Amino acid sequence: MRLQPAFPRLRLQIVATDCDAQLLERARTGCYAASSLKELPADLRAAAFDERDGRFCIRAELRGVEFLRQDLREQMPDGPFDLVCLRNVVATYYAVEVQREILARIAARMRPGGALVLGIHESLPPGVSDFTAWPGARAVYRRAETGPRLSSIQAGRSGVSLSSLSLRERDRG
Ligand SMILES: C[S@@+](CC[C@H](N)C(=O)[O-])C[C@H]1O[C@@H](n2cnc3c(N)ncnc32)[C@H](O)[C@@H]1O
Repeated sequence: MRLQPAFPRLRLQIVATDCDAQLLERARTGCYAASSLKELPADLRAAAFDERDGRFCIRAELRGVEFLRQDLREQMPDGPFDLVCLRNVVATYYAVEVQREILARIAARMRPGGALVLGIHESLPPGVSDFTAWPGARAVYRRAETGPRLSSIQAGRSGVSLSSLSLRERDRG
């Protein structure tokens, strides 16, 4: 919403995945108690949500998100993505070896220079060379210019979750 005035021709595709069917359904519904939105600036809440029976529901025109039930250890959306949000999932739940394997497959689905966002208290495990720390930002990493590309890996398909959320510019190839 905030990008639109500056980039009126920008068209984004957003893919959200999670392995938990109930959580996915909740996200699809897109309605929240006011307390869940208390950290959202008031102008954004007013612009993005309609109030219904005391709950706040995302406006119809902002619902262009593709939801997929996927386990990141087995599947991911194909990409390529410009932004991957992976807050409080991989670095929180999985052993370092599994983290490295998932991160390599995510890197292969990102455009060089794209951003990977982890939870504010998370960091990449040692030995991950596909990303560099984003200057001045905490828990944000930049996809390196070189490294494995999608065509060079044999991984399954797709994925990003409510645990992770991916965004790409439409029609950029
Ligand atoms: C702590 S929540 C974080 C949710 C969200 N990213 C956030 O920051 O608010 C962790 C989420 O990761 C999902 N999850 C855990 N392991 C996963 C996996 N292997 N594949 C996909 N989703 C996973 C869980 O179902 C849960 O929804």
